[in-house]
Order: sequence, then structure tokens, then C-alpha cells
Amino acid sequence: MQRTLGVCYYPEHWPEARWADDASRMAGLGLTHVRIGEFAWSRLEPRRGQFEFDWLARAIDTLHAAGLKVVLGTPTATPPKWLVDEMPDMLPVGADGAVRGFGSRRHYDFSHQGYLEESKRITLKLAKAFGAHPGVTAWQTDNEYDCHGTTLSYSPAARAGFQAWLQRKYQSPDALNRAWGNVFWSMEISDFSEIGLPNLTVTEPNPAHVMDFRRYASEMVVRFNRAQADIIRAHSPGRDVIHNFMGRTLAFDHFDVGRDLDISSWDSYPLGFLEDRSDQGDDWKRRFVRAGDPDFQAFHHDLYRATSKGRWWVMEQQPGPVNWAPHNPAPRDGMVRLWSWEAFAHGAETVSYFRWRQAPFAQEQMHAGLLRPDSTEAEGFAEAAQVARELRALDGTLDESAGRADAAIVFDYPSAWAWEIQPQGHEFDYFRLVFDFYRSLRRLGLSVDIVPASAPELDGYPMALIPGLFAWTPELIEAIRGFQGQLLIGPRSGSKTDDFAIPDTLPPALQKDLLDLRVSRVESLRADTPVPISGGGTFQFWREFLEAGADVETVLSAEDGVPGLAKQGFLHYLGGWPDPELMRIVLQRLAADAGLKTRDLPDGVRLRRHGLHVFAFNYGETSFDLAELGWTGEPVLGARVLQPSGVAIVAVAGAGS
Ligand code: GAL
Repeated sequence: MQRTLGVCYYPEHWPEARWADDASRMAGLGLTHVRIGEFAWSRLEPRRGQFEFDWLARAIDTLHAAGLKVVLGTPTATPPKWLVDEMPDMLPVGADGAVRGFGSRRHYDFSHQGYLEESKRITLKLAKAFGAHPGVTAWQTDNEYDCHGTTLSYSPAARAGFQAWLQRKYQSPDALNRAWGNVFWSMEISDFSEIGLPNLTVTEPNPAHVMDFRRYASEMVVRFNRAQADIIRAHSPGRDVIHNFMGRTLAFDHFDVGRDLDISSWDSYPLGFLEDRSDQGDDWKRRFVRAGDPDFQAFHHDLYRATSKGRWWVMEQQPGPVNWAPHNPAPRDGMVRLWSWEAFAHGAETVSYFRWRQAPFAQEQMHAGLLRPDSTEAEGFAEAAQVARELRALDGTLDESAGRADAAIVFDYPSAWAWEIQPQGHEFDYFRLVFDFYRSLRRLGLSVDIVPASAPELDGYPMALIPGLFAWTPELIEAIRGFQGQLLIGPRSGSKTDDFAIPDTLPPALQKDLLDLRVSRVESLRADTPVPISGGGTFQFWREFLEAGADVETVLSAEDGVPGLAKQGFLHYLGGWPDPELMRIVLQRLAADAGLKTRDLPDGVRLRRHGLHVFAFNYGETSFDLAELGWTGEPVLGARVLQPSGVAIVAVAGAGS
């Protein structure tokens, strides 16, 4: 596999006379890919039907002539003013009922049929014009679906689309009334046209109503993306179709969108995310303020690798301070390089920096690029150049037999919607729960694969975790039945039916031969009233009362005597949200039973195994000697003593080394 670097470039922002120099500097830096075009609609079609593609053709020619491979974006995240004026009802509507207007980006509604057609029209034009260009090697559909919270729109178009979707799903109003439990509070309807959107109700709407709306909205994103992907495939054969996903964004099912992509990518802004997307306390944020969370990027690398069957990129990598978080510090020296290598450790094909040159105008003028606005090299430039040199030096020497990771975590977007709809306790957030498990596995030095609940391939993993799953899928039950490793289920897994009701047999609603256990009661907990567990650690935020059958062994109990971890054969059920200490105890135990070797890594040190190499990263502020892990040889890259921001690649004998 070739690992490559790229950059995001906006030829329309710069005088044409600069393009050739920019292109040759990119190539000189060691970049091979350049993404362009994704916001350029007003320059491609300034008025309906007046297509001005010549400049884009010249830009692609210029980049191609410098040896760069172009990723061409469809410009549908930024519909031009004339189009919005033609059909103002294409604008999205917020949950507060207010129209979200023109003047920034993503001002469209996924349900709007007219806009869907417009997006197909411009995609077709571009695909026909540039699909066969030898310089265009891939396409990006749109830009960051759901950015600025745009999956959900409460528009007339969404309402009509939702009603039709419900009619197809339930066939009759009675079936819908039954499924949703509409007898409660006299919410019954007698015609699908009576169904509204679940906003602007007096108090909370029916969770089943919201859940269906979330499913519908997710399908609209899938539909929108698929329409573009189909057109591109028809007119640009042999090119990869890519979309750039975001961090901690769960509003649509990325596995479903990923099925229509050749390559998943995501946009990685470690310092911005630490500031505005982390649940960690201030102390943690202070410690990693210039390094980013040691697990956040890794989690998304593993997640998005799973959304398109393995091929994935970082489409946008933070190169310096960004502009959009509450505070926007500069990365510590070496971190731009470290983040790039962390992506490669998880199997990325390409890491592409955002952006080439800092724009002196408009919304993102405070966002760093590889170049400053005056075209001199910004700090990130030298780090990108170093990564390029290192990639060249290592070319062909790294083991490519990635294989299975140590542990699998089942991830499920509908579960994220469900617990957002009905958290039952302030802290109950699906991402947070899954990420806590993920972090704990990383801390133990384990490598993780993420697998979708809708298509769970668990074979071959020594251990697997299914935390917080809303409702079982038949595929998942089958995978559990065939699973040979150690399995941990819970908390809250299988606690609802697909219709958002409590299962008749009570959670976790597994057949008795798998797990003869019932959750008889649950409680959510204030952060300052955790439940201590005998042997160490606590349940925080959430705990369950377990009633176990004769074949079930209690492994751990709370100090009040209530079972906390139960076990039947290889299957464990965890009846609460473990704090970091309990998490370590539980996962270490499972890993030992699974025959995995674990470590106790410092907060800032992380490992990722890839075939017969282990990549080591130091996000912390003190050095770490890899000899402490038993590795005394010379790393393939970097030094045995990992300095802060250090990266090392170590050749190991086998998975357990
Ligand atoms: C991304 C987006 C880019 C740019 C960048 C700034 O979310 O895709 O267009 O806005 O953030 O960090």
C-alpha cells in the first residue's frame, strides 16, 4: 500500500497567475493529492445554465501538469444565491421553526426534491466535463454532511417526505399507532397526513416518533449521497468516490452512506475537537491543549475505516490553529507530524492537510494553512515535509498484513439517536459511553476495530464489546451465537425493541441459552453519587439491577450487594457505566481470559499495531522509554526514547509481543 499526502486547495480564491507556482510548491513538498472545487458553485454556474468551467479546466490542467492527482468536489454544500432565490423552500428549517438562510454554507434541505434534482444536475455536468480527465483520480461528494447540524430539518418538504416514508413503513395508521403506543396521551392519528414533525410540541414528543424521524432523516442523507455517487460512477469510471465525514457526528448512519463510497474519509481537527467535542474535564484539556486527545482521532480512524470496507483517508488535517473552537491554540511542535502518522498507523492511504494557504478574507481568515496568507511557509509546512520524507524512506518496508485487531467494538448509529432521544440521565450519551470503552482498551495497549451492528463480522477477534446497544439486530444475535472469544455486553444493551418500547421479557432480551439474565430496574446517577463496586472502581451515571438465572455467575458486585458483572460461558453482562478504574479491572480480566497481553500505558502514550509493526505515539509532555514495554531494539522510525510529540515504529515478532 502506498501512503500519500495531500492538501485542500481553492484555485478560485487566488489569482490564476499563482496556480502554477502553488502546484510546483505542493509537488516539491512531497504532496501527491489535491482536493479542489467543493465550494465553487457560484463560479461554475454564476447564473442558471451559464456554465463557466474553463477556469476549473485550467486549474486541473495546472495541478496535473505538476504531477498532482486531483480530488474534485461536487459543490453542493454551497448552492448559489440565484438558486436559493428560485426555490426558497429548499432552505433548511431549524427545530425552532425558523428558516436557516443564505450567507454561509449547507443551506439546503435533504428532503427537498427540487434541490436533489439540482444537485444531480450540477454533478452530472461536472462528471461529464471532467470525469475522464487523467488528472482527476477521485471525487468528493458534497462536503461534510451534517456540518452545522444540517441533517435534521423541520421543513414542509421534510414533513411531506416523512409522512410518505411512514406510510410505506406502516401501511396503515393503526399499525403506526400500535407501534408508537399512540394511545398514550391520545396521540392516535387516523391518516398519515395528520403526522407532524417532532418539534415544537409542548413537552417531549413520543420517542418512537422521534426515532422514526431520525431514521427517515438519515435515509435522506444516504439518498442524496447515492444520487451523486451513481452519476459520478457512470461518467467517471475508475475514479474513487469519497466523502469527508466529521468528528463526533452521529446524526446519520455513516455505515449506510459508506456503502456507496469507495473510500471513507474524515476531517481531523484534534485541538478544535478537544476544546469543543470532548467530555473530559478541564485538567485533561489543559494537559493536552496543544496535542489533542490521545484517543479521539484514533477512534475516528477506526470508525471510518469500518464504514467503507477498509479504504479510508484523512481528507482534512489540522495544520495549525483553527478558527472555530472556543479557543484555538497552536499545536505543539511535532504534533502535525504525529497526527499524520497516527492516521497511517490505523491504515490511512492518504492524509491531506486543510488548507494550502490561509485565506485573508471571509469566515475562515483566522484558520491556519500550510502557507501564511503572504505565501511564506507556516509552521505546519515543515512537519508535512518531514512526513513526506519519512514516507519515502519507509516505502515498501512496512508490513501490510493488517489483520484483525485485538478487540472489536460494535458501533451503532441508531443507538446514538435512541439515547439522545431518551437519555434518562443527563450524562447518558452513546458516543461518550463507547469512547470510554475505546479509551480504556487503548490504555491497555490494545488495538481496536470497530464493527457495525448491522453487519457485525466478529469472527476471529479474541474479544468483543457491545456497549449501549439500543435494539438487537438479527445479524448481531447470529454473530454472538457464532462468536468464539470473550464478549462483553451492556450497559443498556438490548433494552428496547425496534419500536422504542421495553421488550416483553425485559432487557437485555437475549435467549436464555445465551444469557439467562434480566434487568429488573435501572437508575441514573448524579456524577457525584457513583455506586462503589467491591474490588475497586464505581458505576457512574448509570446502573442496573440484575436478576440472574442459575447458569449465570456473578463476577463483580456493588458494595450494596447488587450484581454488577455477570457471566454465562463466554458472555459477560455489565450492569452499569464503569468509571476508568472499574473499566480497567473489567477489560483487563476479559483480555486475560482472551489470552491478550495488556499494558498500563501513561495517559499520553499510545500504541497501534499494524501487521508486524507497532506504532508508538507520545501525546504527553514527558518522554517515555519504549524499553519499559520490553522493546529494546532500534525502531524502524524514530527513537526508542519517545520525546513529547514523538513517533516510533517498532518491528515486533507477533501480535502478543
Ligand atoms: C471543515 C470543513 C472545511 C473548513 C474546515 C475548517 O469542517 O470541511 O471546509 O471549514 O472545517 O476547520
